[in-house]
Amino acid sequence: MFPDLTSDDIFRIETKRLWLRWPRVADAAAITGFASEASTAKMTAAIPHPYPAGEAERFIFQARADNATGRGLVLAITQKRADHPLIGLIGATVAGSHDLEIGYLIAPQANGKGYATEAVKSLVSSLFSLTSVQRILANVRTVNPASHRVLEKSGFAYVDSGLDYLPARGGLHPCDRFELDRKSWLKQQPGRSMPPMHHQMQDRRDAQQAVLHPPVES
Ligand SMILES: CC(C)(COP(=O)(O)OP(=O)(O)OC[C@H]1O[C@@H](n2cnc3c(N)ncnc32)[C@H](O)[C@@H]1OP(=O)(O)O)[C@@H](O)C(=O)NCCC(=O)NCCS
Repeated sequence: MFPDLTSDDIFRIETKRLWLRWPRVADAAAITGFASEASTAKMTAAIPHPYPAGEAERFIFQARADNATGRGLVLAITQKRADHPLIGLIGATVAGSHDLEIGYLIAPQANGKGYATEAVKSLVSSLFSLTSVQRILANVRTVNPASHRVLEKSGFAYVDSGLDYLPARGGLHPCDRFELDRKSWLKQQPGRSMPPMHHQMQDRRDAQQAVLHPPVES
């Protein structure tokens, strides 16, 4: 599903305020910083709490292996400042022959500034542009209104609700499913306007009307 382009660690996505790039071992301290927060971990399916020593390094190695083999695409979200602080993570995994599922998180200190929405929109655009995926899915805990809002702002539609298995949360939890299909995504892209055709130009139409139907002299 993922193209050769994303399987090399020079791959990155640029947005207005962010770089999305492969995670590196040097990111372990920053990832540990926000992944060990209970408020972050409890909204995810896979981050254990308490966060064990060495977990960030294990996650980074796994993410890089999955990126390299095309099993997934996991990217670190960094700000475009001189020191490029790492403020979150975003990724996509295969969820069926034509579907991908995304997941994301932003460090608590960077919440509420639109970073998650900016990252989700750019990842979604890259996935629809670089792969043949037909639909992108997301699964959110019902108790996570901020994430619901991120998906709504990114063009996703609510599908249904039910119990889902969240391994790191230890069992089944109420979740809401969202989707964005390729056609809906295309419709949401700002169209590049074409120059008007001759008949659409009001002044020329008026001129043509005058030629075809000259005013009758009294
Ligand atoms: C959910 C999360 C990704 C949001 O990141 P963020 O960068 O703050 O998101 P954005 O700023 O792009 O958008 C957040 C939106 O949610 C809204 N929001 C925040 N808290 C809310 C709440 N309690 N109720 C309703 N809306 C809320 C914000 O007002 C904003 O909407 P607006 O732009 O219309 O005002 C981040 O809080 C996080 O990582 N949480 C922990 C992990 C997680 O939940 N990951 C997602 C798993 S599916």
